Amino acid sequence: MFFERPDSGDIAVLVHMDFHDQRVSYGPEEFVELSISAGADPIAVVTGSRLRPDSKYFVGTGKLDEIKGIVDREGAEVVLFDHSLSPSQERNLENFLNCRVLDRTGLILDIFGQRARSHEGKLQVELAQLQHMSTRLVKGWTHLERQKGGIGVRGGPGETQLETDRRLLRERIKSIQKRLDKVNSQRDQNRRARSRSAVPTVSLVGYTNAGKSTLFNRATGADVYAADQLFATLDPTLRRLDLEQIGSVVLADTVGFIRQLPHRLVKAFQATLKESSEADLLLHIVDAADISRDENIAEVESVLKEIGADEVPTLRVFNKIDMLPGSEARIDRDADGKPVRVWVSARDGLGIELLQQAIAELLAEDVLNETLVLPNEYGRLRAMLFEQGAVRSERYDEFGQSVLEVRLPKKDYLQILARAGMSEDQIEAA
Ligand code: GTP
Repeated sequence: MFFERPDSGDIAVLVHMDFHDQRVSYGPEEFVELSISAGADPIAVVTGSRLRPDSKYFVGTGKLDEIKGIVDREGAEVVLFDHSLSPSQERNLENFLNCRVLDRTGLILDIFGQRARSHEGKLQVELAQLQHMSTRLVKGWTHLERQKGGIGVRGGPGETQLETDRRLLRERIKSIQKRLDKVNSQRDQNRRARSRSAVPTVSLVGYTNAGKSTLFNRATGADVYAADQLFATLDPTLRRLDLEQIGSVVLADTVGFIRQLPHRLVKAFQATLKESSEADLLLHIVDAADISRDENIAEVESVLKEIGADEVPTLRVFNKIDMLPGSEARIDRDADGKPVRVWVSARDGLGIELLQQAIAELLAEDVLNETLVLPNEYGRLRAMLFEQGAVRSERYDEFGQSVLEVRLPKKDYLQILARAGMSEDQIEAA
């Protein structure tokens, strides 16, 4: 059965339910923030509990009447559910409420759609939106251009009154997938080029709103969009950070993690997150003043595990100490003296130098930063070091030997030696 969807807008009623057979341990607060991030104007939050979701309307009839009453009284333009709705539930609700209904996945996609900046980010979002849409095709949902504004309509494929056209949708998905493959292979090449130039990569990860972009700006002096909105950054943004002790590193800002990120979205953003699994060091930024701090840390760690980034050395950065009375910028170390946690305030610029010091210490273990003396017959090794971009300066000593100041990741150095058929103890350090 086809029907036209009601128009959407920003005045929103939020619905957050607890179900006895699902242990939901969080309240509606995050969902309120999410909806504000999407540009909604939440005028009411309806909460309730029941044994399990109703198959037709998700909520019971009493709750349904309550929502309908608020929608009519307040002139709400959209009802947002902090849950996954089936396509038919969404449809039934829209029919009953005579108001646009969006579930949690739809809302997150809407935010992604508004925030994607890079070519790849936009493609990924569009792909996820189309895939989400293809499960709920009804008349009026399928046009591939946007028609008017409002939550769940902006920044995405949108809708018009056009007839259902699954074939068009499938072709569009295919063509986006093809373009994404191309972008991915280009990205791989860039990544290889970066590792060839021997620059270590440090990736910022963290729960959304932890302060990644703010810290990124502080540390690099870059002007990346930071706002008190969830998901202010969607694409990894790369900047150079110069550390006195070890030279340049690449700092990569990534998208923020959120609780209950629908699995399909995790997949759609894998390329974005993949950067993190290939970094030399992860900075896990934590909002130290957040009451859900520990759950957020656990959530991020579980996603990192999912993308295979749990093997990468990690430094925790406890941010926003300006909001924690009595805390000061400091480095916490493990029993071996290795930095494990740094306390900072990105906003006030507290502890930024300590953070840089800790990064340098952790990377120094993996970076060879030495002066090597290479006799003439080591010409092949010398050429390979140049090719890697690892040579910072060269001079010749009185025996005509090349004296090279080199800096490159140790693992690359060992690979080069192996390729040159040499071993470490054949090389003399100055
Ligand atoms: P996403 O892009 O959503 O993942 O967020 P993010 O982790 O990049 O956070 P962002 O840097 O956008 O900061 C989120 C909010 O926290 C902004 O309002 C910042 O001003 C604020 N913020 C960041 N660092 C600090 C800090 O050290 N102290 C305080 N009080 N606020 C901070």
